Amino acid sequence: MRVAVLSGDCIGPEVSAEAMRVLEALVPQIELVELPFGAEAIRQRGDPLPAATLEACRSADAVLKGPIGHPEFDAADIRPEQGLLRLRAELDVYANLRPARQGSVDLLIVRELVGGMYFGARGVREDGTVFDTCEYHPQQVERICRRAFELARSRRGHVTSVDKANILDTSRMWRRVATDVGRDFPDVIVDHMLVDNAAMQLVERPERFDVIVTENMFGDILSDEAAAITGGLGLAGSASLGDGSPGLFEPVHGSAPDIAGTGTANPAAMLRSTALMLSLGLGRPDEARLLEHAVDAALETAPTPDLGGVATTREFGDAVLTALEVRSPL
Ligand code: NAD
Ligand code: IPM
Ligand code: MN
Repeated sequence: MRVAVLSGDCIGPEVSAEAMRVLEALVPQIELVELPFGAEAIRQRGDPLPAATLEACRSADAVLKGPIGHPEFDAADIRPEQGLLRLRAELDVYANLRPARQGSVDLLIVRELVGGMYFGARGVREDGTVFDTCEYHPQQVERICRRAFELARSRRGHVTSVDKANILDTSRMWRRVATDVGRDFPDVIVDHMLVDNAAMQLVERPERFDVIVTENMFGDILSDEAAAITGGLGLAGSASLGDGSPGLFEPVHGSAPDIAGTGTANPAAMLRSTALMLSLGLGRPDEARLLEHAVDAALETAPTPDLGGVATTREFGDAVLTALEVRSPL
C-alpha cells in the first residue's frame, strides 16, 4: 500500500503532518512517499507538478494532498493551482465527492472536476478582452451523472442536478444528459435546479438534498457553502475518483495563508480526506470508520479555534490518536 503524499503550502504541511502521523499509527504497513508539489516545487524546479511527482502519483495506490496556493505566486505566471489542475486532469479523477453532514443535514456534492470553465479555451483578444470558456462534451457529463446516480442508490435515492439551463447551452445539454442517464436508474428520484436557487436552498433547507451533481465551477462554490452550513471549511474532506486511476484525496479548504505558522489550523478536513482515502482509495473501510469516529471524538474533546476551541493542530492530532487508542510512532 503506497500513498503519494503532497503536503501542500502554508497550512498544508501542518495538517498533512497530522494525517501522516495518524495513518502510520492506524495502518503500520502503509508506505508514505512525500513528493515536491505546489509552491515548494515551483521554488525548487520551476514547476508546481514536476514529472517525477506525477509519475510517483500515477504508480501509487492513492494520492493524499494537502491544500496548495501561496500569496508569493498570486500574480505570477506559474502558480501552484496550475499544478493541481494538471494533476486532476492527468489522473482523470473526474468525480469529486464532497460530503457535508451535520445533524439533519446529510448531503453529497458530486462535482465534475476535469471539465468546464477550468479547462475550456481561454485567452486574450486583440482589443484586450480576456475570456475563459465553459466547455463540456456529453460523454463527460454522462460519466459524472452516472457516478452520481450510482452513489444515490447507496444513500437516500435522490439526485438533484444543478445547472444554469435558463442561460447556458452547456447547462441545457447537461440537463438533457442527466435526464437520459436518470432513465437507467428508475429507483432514483431526480430533480433539476438552477444554481442560484440551489445556493439559496442550501442555506434555507439543506436537509432536502441527498446527492447534488453539478459542473466544476458550480460545484466549487456550492461545496464551500455546504461546508459552511455544516460546521465550517475546517471539517470538509473530499475524494476525487476516476475509472481505475489512483484516487486523489484532499480537503475542500485552501492553504489558509492568514493562519499559516500559528499551529491553529483544523486538521479535521485533512483527516476526513484521509478516511475517504482509506475507504474509497485503499479498500480499508474498517480503518476508515475508526478514523471517522476518532475525528468526531476529537472534535468534542479538542476543538480548534475555528470551532471556538483552543486546541492546536498537534493537540487535535493527539486527541485523534487517543481516540484511536493507538500510540503514534513519533
Ligand atoms: P482558504 O480555504 O484557504 O481560507 C478561507 C478561510 O477559511 C480563511 O479564513 C482560513 O483561515 C479558513 N480556513 C481554511 N481552512 C482552515 C482550517 N483547516 N482550519 C481553520 N481555518 C481554516 O481560502 P482562500 O483564502 O480563498 O485561499 C487561500 C489559497 O488556497 C489560495 O491560494 C487558493 O487558490 C488556495 N486553495 C487551494 C485549494 C486546494 O488545494 N484544493 C482549495 C481552495 C483554495
Ligand atoms: C478547490 C479549490 C481549487 C478548485 C483551486 C485551488 C484550483 O478551490 O479544490 O475547491 O477551484 O478546484
Ligand atoms: Mn474551492
